[in-house]
Amino acid sequence: MDDGRAYGRATGESDPDLYETSPGTPAGELLRRYWQPVALSSEATSVPRNVRLLSEDLVLYRSHDGTPGLLEPRCRHRGTSLFFGRVEQDCIRCPYHGWAFGADGTCVDQPCEPRGGRHRDSHRQPWYPLHEFGGLIFTYMGPPDRQPTFPRYDIFEALGADEELHVVDHFAFGGPSVAPCNWFQTHENVMDPYHVFILHNAMSGPQFDPRLGTWPDVDWNQHELGVTSTQDRLLDDGTTLHRVTETRFPNIRVVATPTLAYLGKTNNMSWAQPIDDTHTRVFCILRIPKGAPPQGLGTYGPDAKSWFDLTDAEHQSYPGDYETQVSQGAITLHSEERLSSTDRGVSMVRRQWKQQLQVVADGGDPVGVVFDEADPIELLAGNYIVEAR
Ligand code: FES
Ligand SMILES: [Fe+2]
Repeated sequence: MDDGRAYGRATGESDPDLYETSPGTPAGELLRRYWQPVALSSEATSVPRNVRLLSEDLVLYRSHDGTPGLLEPRCRHRGTSLFFGRVEQDCIRCPYHGWAFGADGTCVDQPCEPRGGRHRDSHRQPWYPLHEFGGLIFTYMGPPDRQPTFPRYDIFEALGADEELHVVDHFAFGGPSVAPCNWFQTHENVMDPYHVFILHNAMSGPQFDPRLGTWPDVDWNQHELGVTSTQDRLLDDGTTLHRVTETRFPNIRVVATPTLAYLGKTNNMSWAQPIDDTHTRVFCILRIPKGAPPQGLGTYGPDAKSWFDLTDAEHQSYPGDYETQVSQGAITLHSEERLSSTDRGVSMVRRQWKQQLQVVADGGDPVGVVFDEADPIELLAGNYIVEAR
């Protein structure tokens, strides 16, 4: 007799197409077809730094001429980690026998070999290309002949003299920067607008603007480059708040500010960085007036504490995005979910993801990659006030 009790329940499975990040896996290869943020610009310094992205361990550094480099740690000679290397004018030098490599992996010196290494051209350190934008360093880890142009977005174009781009580096609303869970479960959360009403308002007190505390009229729409959610709320003054959030391929989320500090088109976009299958870091670039306090550093509970100051009991009393997404598991069990009517947006994100897995498996280019200079990509997200008729 199955009366629903826990005894003998299924252990459940995760869908590899929705969580894998390693090279050679379908999802890992799809992620590799796009520029991905690897670190803050400020993290690339003359002190080499271990970084991990898409389940690959790499070493990041910045040579004295200002060029950042991202190399395989294991020295091409006999395997010492370049984490212990010495950064010089235009290269990083392995501490063991002094082989030196440029940011494109070229071996520029072999001091123990005759004449600095006559055959050093044949020893290239595995490397990845980098592009700096808005305080972040992006890398492209896919096949060289499919490397796209670095995309431009309309919300970051034509910056005025009194404006700046500012990076916020936290997983959710002032929490830690790295969360011990898979990237997809935080990515798809953006198409789950009902949680704003329940989690951020009804359950935890107003974590967002109180005007987001009423039940919204929600709709979703899949378009070529992502999925959009629209939420309409009638405000006390008779106007309607038309809020638009979106996911963009492959791991970008564009959210209207939760504080309603900026009305109109949003001023920020974020990347859920897949460190590996079970760790995610979130970077957000904001366009703000110079010197303005950065948004998004939320507080929790009636004492307006930061996430880091909460006691264990307060984490239970005022859970937020971190608690709800991380507690789904390091990789959520897709087979044990019961997707319901409010999960239409989540289903759309997954369906579009699987469509693009197939495109890449069939030898095609996934949506949104361009290989020539193109116009800026137009984003849709924002908080729009619609006047009553
Ligand atoms: S192991 Fe790096 S130079 Fe020998
Ligand atoms: Fe949230």
